[in-house]
Amino acid sequence: MEAATAKTIREETRRRRTFAIISHPDAGKTTLTEKLLLYSGMIRTAGMVGGRKSNKSAASDWMSMEQERGISITASAMQFTYKGTVINVLDTPGHQDFSEDTYRTLTAADSAIMVIDAAKGVEAQTRKLFEVCRMSGIPVLTFVNKMDMPGLDPIDLMAEVEEVLGIEASPYNWPIGSGKAFAGVVHRADEQAYLYRKVAAAGSQMPEVSKVPLEDAAETDYRVTDDVLEQVMEDVELLEVAGNPYTHEAFLNREITPVFFGSALTGFGVEMLFDVFVDITPAPSPRPADHKNGSEIIIDPVEKPFSAYVFKLQANMDPRHRDCVAFMRINSGRYERNLQVKHDRLGRQIRLSRPHSLMVDDRKTIEEAFPGDVIGVMNPGLFAIGDTVSVDGGFQFKPLPQFQPELFSRIRPADFGKRKSLDKGLKQLVAEGAIQLLEDWVDTGNPPIVAAVGQLQFEVLQYRLKDEYKVGVDLQKLPYDCSAWVIGEISTFKKPINALLTRDQYGRPLVLFSSTWEKDYAIRENPEHQIVDYAT
Ligand code: G4P
Repeated sequence: MEAATAKTIREETRRRRTFAIISHPDAGKTTLTEKLLLYSGMIRTAGMVGGRKSNKSAASDWMSMEQERGISITASAMQFTYKGTVINVLDTPGHQDFSEDTYRTLTAADSAIMVIDAAKGVEAQTRKLFEVCRMSGIPVLTFVNKMDMPGLDPIDLMAEVEEVLGIEASPYNWPIGSGKAFAGVVHRADEQAYLYRKVAAAGSQMPEVSKVPLEDAAETDYRVTDDVLEQVMEDVELLEVAGNPYTHEAFLNREITPVFFGSALTGFGVEMLFDVFVDITPAPSPRPADHKNGSEIIIDPVEKPFSAYVFKLQANMDPRHRDCVAFMRINSGRYERNLQVKHDRLGRQIRLSRPHSLMVDDRKTIEEAFPGDVIGVMNPGLFAIGDTVSVDGGFQFKPLPQFQPELFSRIRPADFGKRKSLDKGLKQLVAEGAIQLLEDWVDTGNPPIVAAVGQLQFEVLQYRLKDEYKVGVDLQKLPYDCSAWVIGEISTFKKPINALLTRDQYGRPLVLFSSTWEKDYAIRENPEHQIVDYAT
């Protein structure tokens, strides 16, 4: 490789941060994303990135269904520059109707910001997404949002994060007051108070900020009372003695999550979060892959020429063209327009033409891209989830895991004459990773089962089968609400009476449980078997 090119790739890789914001619906992910865009100069006023209740659609709303519902169904990426750092935000729908795409997208991230509502603590969806981050091995920063509203005690929140998520929490800053009296945060390392004041209508602009030594905070005109100050000083002292000290190594090893307090809506504390975020999160790093000779190799982002893998497929982004786009994360080298790559699974060469990255304002055709970037490539049926493409060829990145489905329905065509079209449509949608397909372990002649992580996947399934394959379907919901793959001898597996043993599309045994209680029971009853939430 030319020295100049290697230098460019090294520098471009070093200044990239590819991450996802994870949260439970309503915790403030959209608002925080919007603030990041605001501080990056991408938008001038808040309110341009659509939330569910906004009429303006978010930049990632392509499908007509998405627009009708005003939510972002698909996990896509936005790229922009924040103070010299190239940010790739992977969009992970946090709505109740999220899908397996959300999980898969997290495997393309190098880090995550977890947003928690200060009044609600760690909620169900956050817990699930956090587990996927853990499995993907990415470090997580925590942002405790909505400090301008009455919330739980910050000390209790820390304890909850530690207890529920099993990670040590290390407050990077600490709130000064809460609810109506929330005035700012104290930066623990240097005991400077960052005091904020709104300058315009709520949520529309960045706040004014003033930095003073903590002990002087009550002497400013920033609404800090002596009582509040005393409490903060006490807390900070307690944290010094009893809190978890932050170390960069522990953060990168996922043993600790640095915690930031603030308010996305008013912007209090968010710039500090973003500044520390770009400072401490990792740039794209080497990734393991399987060489065709059977050995495991490490793909270095700078040393190795272009390589990428597909983490998401999306059809019908443009109804006029009925196209399908494969989203790839670049793991090494430089992408240039019309690059010729090897597609090992198909054993052929492919030209990557017409790629686009998603900018906030538009879909743009891109000329070059670097490790950590996401490119969308037209997919005339060439790509499946997990496919690797590379200039060198001869290796595949690790297959993407499959995640425990929680919703199950038997599927049959409304018109039996359409059986073949249904089979064809299902085959394609399963290959795209839009839905999982199961059959009973012991054939009983029952229709197959479609399985999903979120309800929306069923709606998209029905919509696409009707729209693209002209098949109406009947879905009969089954009474199970979680599942797990069984590793071990299936003939000796003691299945709870109400559970159903099925076979997934790769022939692996997946057990459907009627409750998490029943699943825990099965785990206890089968110590010889491994019962796992994702399959690799
Ligand atoms: P999400 O993407 O995680 O689902 O959450 P989103 O940002 O849409 O925020 C959910 C609601 O919480 C919104 O109010 C938003 O304005 C509010 N919110 C976000 N951050 C803060 C904060 O720091 N303080 C306060 N007080 N509220 C916050 P909404 O009324 O549901 O929607 P909208 O009409 O304001 O769009």
